[in-house]
Amino acid sequence: MARILTGIQSTGVPHLGNLLGALEPGVKLSEQKDNTAIFFIADLHSLTSLKEPQARIENIRSVAAAWLACGFDTHQGILFRQSDVPEVCELTWYLNCFAPFPMLANAHSFKDKSAKQGLSEVNAGLFTYPVLMAADILLYDTDIVPVGKDQIQHIEITRDIASSINHQHGEIFILPKAQVEEQVKVVPGIDGQKMSKSYGNTINVFEEEKKLKKSINRIITGSEPLEAPKNPDNCTVFQLYSLLADTSEINTLRNAYLEGNFGYGAAKQILFEKIMEKYEVPRQKYMTFMQNPESIETALRLGQDKARAYATSVLDRVREALGFGSII
Ligand code: AMP
Ligand code: TRP
Repeated sequence: MARILTGIQSTGVPHLGNLLGALEPGVKLSEQKDNTAIFFIADLHSLTSLKEPQARIENIRSVAAAWLACGFDTHQGILFRQSDVPEVCELTWYLNCFAPFPMLANAHSFKDKSAKQGLSEVNAGLFTYPVLMAADILLYDTDIVPVGKDQIQHIEITRDIASSINHQHGEIFILPKAQVEEQVKVVPGIDGQKMSKSYGNTINVFEEEKKLKKSINRIITGSEPLEAPKNPDNCTVFQLYSLLADTSEINTLRNAYLEGNFGYGAAKQILFEKIMEKYEVPRQKYMTFMQNPESIETALRLGQDKARAYATSVLDRVREALGFGSII
């Protein structure tokens, strides 16, 4: 029985990169009967950058709604809000005291932002971000963490901290493994860079149809004339389509590119139709959940109870091993 755990920050409405890179692979894993899936909304992590309470609440809603819309079964698995299990903050402190300073200074979450914005612009929460993430993972005896490629370093940090404590204090923690979907390691955004909210290049499949179409039309492509044959392999439209369509559909589009007399506008229309087809049901479900936040809150409360039961038993083990708690 493997425990699968993953989190998504509540920093915005999940985009296509989040869906293909994290949510959908996670839901697929949760459906395998020997797995226990533990999924959460990383609202504590979001505080490192997002300070606005109302925005956080809306984002928590939309991340939870996205998970539910993608078919996550909250009775079989666990869906909860990170801050609903405060035990994670206590474990973070213990782990902090074993995390070497240079390892955290080298974490890309901190390094990139502090290099770009200057040290005075980053906070200690961002510096210890990977430690809170390690606590998320270790608090539930996690075996597998499905994530995008950008998170691999954080899982390595988690393993380093856990093995160092295990080495000094006995086998307290299970060492987790990252699981990265090979095919969707990095989903490109409309400018061809990695799709990310911070680059402003996302495709939001839960958006209203017109806006969704507009963002697809903004995908940057080559400027060859209609008649010219085109190379599908360096075209973002084709790359995105390849992540959504089946092999014969992909081959048909590939041939259209190679033959010429086929413009980027037509390719974008095909991509748009594919997205609408694939996400028709999730889009409807997402809307229903968003209009009915009580149903989301109920799902999260159920998750909180289940998650806390796991968390308290692991934390008791850690406290005892480190000499906290009763002195008799
Ligand atoms: P974030 O939005 O950075 O909190 O990411 C949430 C999850 O989605 C993480 O597992 C990321 O690795 C994954 N993810 C985010 N953007 C992409 C992308 N462009 N391609 C693949 N996975 C992504
Ligand atoms: N840092 C992750 C991200 O930005 C979110 C996250 C927080 C997470 N805690 C986690 C992912 C634990 C996996 C496991 O994508």
